[in-house]
Amino acid sequence: MKNFITIEGCDGVGKTYQTNLLREFCKQTGQDHIVFTREPGGSDIAEQIRKIILDAKNEGMDDLCEAFLYAASRIQHLKDIVKPAIEQGKVVFCDRFVHSSYVYQGLGRGLGLDRIIDLNAIAVGDYMPEFTIFLDLSPAKAFERKGGADKTDRMEAVAYSFHQKVYDGYRALIEKDPDKFVVIDASGTIEQTQEALRKVLFDKGILK
Ligand code: TYD
Repeated sequence: MKNFITIEGCDGVGKTYQTNLLREFCKQTGQDHIVFTREPGGSDIAEQIRKIILDAKNEGMDDLCEAFLYAASRIQHLKDIVKPAIEQGKVVFCDRFVHSSYVYQGLGRGLGLDRIIDLNAIAVGDYMPEFTIFLDLSPAKAFERKGGADKTDRMEAVAYSFHQKVYDGYRALIEKDPDKFVVIDASGTIEQTQEALRKVLFDKGILK
């Protein structure tokens, strides 16, 4: 879908931080044609689903239930935020989308990539991103930088090997479909990554 851009990466890579810096830049430079949003959540009902998914108390959650909840949050978020914004001619910049489900639920949880692709095809229909930015940093480096995983976040708290599977999964998706991804090296300073991110968006004509 034209004008629908997503950003992905492993936990701790600084994706949300970089997105917030970009949002601030857009505010300061009057680029109000870009709508910033995130998953899971992003709208009122979807944020309620997010709380259930990420709550560390819900340790008994079945993996398939988790996959359906991410998809459910996605359906609601598309309806409330993404579709109306695109219909109004805006650009949507979304922090995580289906590729997170492919690698976290499909590969990390081991539910199977094809099953999660099928499940999400039902959830999103035509609303696949025009392209996806991947902030590239291995989980080892990401967790080293942030001083370990956040144990109050049910997803971050899982074993290190899970996050390595997620990272390898992203790399495999990119290799399979390189035209749909822009890879940004996130191992440098915050400023370097931010500059690279803006450059991609200027080059693509998203930032003006
Ligand atoms: P969040 O706090 O948004 O992660 P971050 O700021 O680190 O990007 O939490 C989202 C968590 O949910 C994160 O661990 C990735 C995971 N996730 C999935 O497992 N599947 C999905 O489809 C999505 C959107 C996120």
